[in-house]
Amino acid sequence: MLSIKYTLFSVSGVSSFIIFYMGVVNFLTSADESTGMILLIFSIFVAIGTLLATVHISKIITEPIEKLAKSMSEFSKTNKRAKGYEIKTNVSEIFQLNEDFTSMEEKVEKTITVQNEYVEKLKDMDRKKIEFSSMVSHELKTPLVPILGYIQMLQKENFLGDLNDKQIDAVNEIYISTLKLQRLIGDILTTQKLDLGKLDFNKENTNVSDLLLSILKEFKPIALEKNIILEMDYDENIHILTDKDRINQVFSNLIKNAIDFVSAKTGIVTIGAKDQDDHVEFFVSDNGQGISADKQSEIFKKFYQIDTSTSRKRSGSGLGLAICKGIVEGLGGKIRVESEENVKTTFFFNIPKN
Ligand SMILES: Nc1ncnc2c1ncn2[C@@H]1O[C@H](COP(=O)(O)OP(=O)(O)O)[C@@H](O)[C@H]1O
Ligand SMILES: [Mg+2]
Repeated sequence: MLSIKYTLFSVSGVSSFIIFYMGVVNFLTSADESTGMILLIFSIFVAIGTLLATVHISKIITEPIEKLAKSMSEFSKTNKRAKGYEIKTNVSEIFQLNEDFTSMEEKVEKTITVQNEYVEKLKDMDRKKIEFSSMVSHELKTPLVPILGYIQMLQKENFLGDLNDKQIDAVNEIYISTLKLQRLIGDILTTQKLDLGKLDFNKENTNVSDLLLSILKEFKPIALEKNIILEMDYDENIHILTDKDRINQVFSNLIKNAIDFVSAKTGIVTIGAKDQDDHVEFFVSDNGQGISADKQSEIFKKFYQIDTSTSRKRSGSGLGLAICKGIVEGLGGKIRVESEENVKTTFFFNIPKN
């Protein structure tokens, strides 16, 4: 790229040379020696004058423009006004350009300062909001312990006196709703911990088939109650260093969803694990209603549910899959879903072996 200075000096250098050259030619070809000499001296003066004028123009025009260009380039990199580029000029256009640029710099600087203050305020508000809701959730969780304790005492015969059938039904309803509330508060607390990066992971050597068997055992009664098949499909002898309680939590959320979305009697839910070199690929698949392609990336977002109508049959907070994603990523893995509507849905999650 050409610079103004270089162009200016090139043009004036060539012009001076031509003027000087013409003076020399005149001197050599002129019949009258004194006229030739006068023309030669004149051409030397003009050539020197042209060079001096160029130096002067360069000083008053190109130098301030160069400074302005450097200061603009510095500003565009740092968003701060560069020092050492103060410009003094009598050229009105350059003066105006410099004034406008200085005022633009000041405005940008002010805007950035205000913007940074807002970002800090928002971060602070966000932190306070999480801390507040975390405190509320804790406060809600604490009374649930005695509530559940008393419900269980009421459910045990001869513990707090006999209840009639209607009272027993009422206590059972209270028990189911209290468990739902406990689960919801637990999910909110887990989500908050994930947001704050405070969820602990305790890794231990885990036998994958033992883990799957214990999960299967836990969910068999619910599957039987809905009259669906719950089965396993896994590679033998897989060992993994991971947090088995958190893996269990991921499976629980996925299995609960799968059971909810298959039809009674024809539903099949399969849980399993495949050995894949340095990681294990766990999965939960079902032959339920499926998830349309456009919703598949949405469902991992917090509080997202496809059916939000009040008439929907299942309950839930929309936190389950967000928690699964947080846990799996916290353990160094990835979760994904493959689904064909009304045919099959499979959630896969990879966990590194070490
Ligand atoms: N196996 C599945 N089959 C069909 N839809 C599913 C399945 N698992 C999850 N979904 C959809 O993803 C949404 C989010 O799931 P989740 O985060 O567990 O929240 P929740 O279970 O509380 O609704 C569900 O509301 C449901 O619409
Ligand atoms: Mg769920």
